[in-house]
Amino acid sequence: MSPMRHGRYLIEQLNTFNLAYLHFVEGATATSRVIPEGVDLDVLRKLFNGPFIGNNNYDLEMAIDRREAGLIDAVALGRLFISNPDLVERLRQGADVAIAPREAYYGGGAKGYIDWPKATN
Ligand SMILES: Cc1cc2nc3c(=O)[nH]c(=O)nc-3n(C[C@H](O)[C@H](O)[C@H](O)COP(=O)(O)O)c2cc1C
Repeated sequence: MSPMRHGRYLIEQLNTFNLAYLHFVEGATATSRVIPEGVDLDVLRKLFNGPFIGNNNYDLEMAIDRREAGLIDAVALGRLFISNPDLVERLRQGADVAIAPREAYYGGGAKGYIDWPKATN
């Protein structure tokens, strides 16, 4: 079965459960938004009868653009929350965001993972 037929079938089955939302990691998690040729996640997303939460490599601009285009209903931000404990406020104020180095993510202890300062009040 092709990935699109597979995805279509899965989403049709999920629709029978009346779920609160559908959520994809669009691409390779925390790496790239490249997806295999012939797969269109935006097409699959529209088959779901409910809200869709997008994820993977979003920044505020892309989140707003894709929300306005009706491609997502909400966005899940991951890595930006590691290095920006006040992320929502920074985005609201248009402040710079800090980017955590990849080495800090997994198993390296607290340093560089949960010790990032706030930049906003
Ligand atoms: C340190 C770290 C831990 C993660 N743990 C999980 C997890 O437990 N379950 C999960 O579904 N995704 C996990 N993810 C993946 C994120 O949910 C998300 O898909 C990914 O970071 C891409 O989103 P982003 O570009 O906003 O960071 C993790 C990512 C990072 C960086």
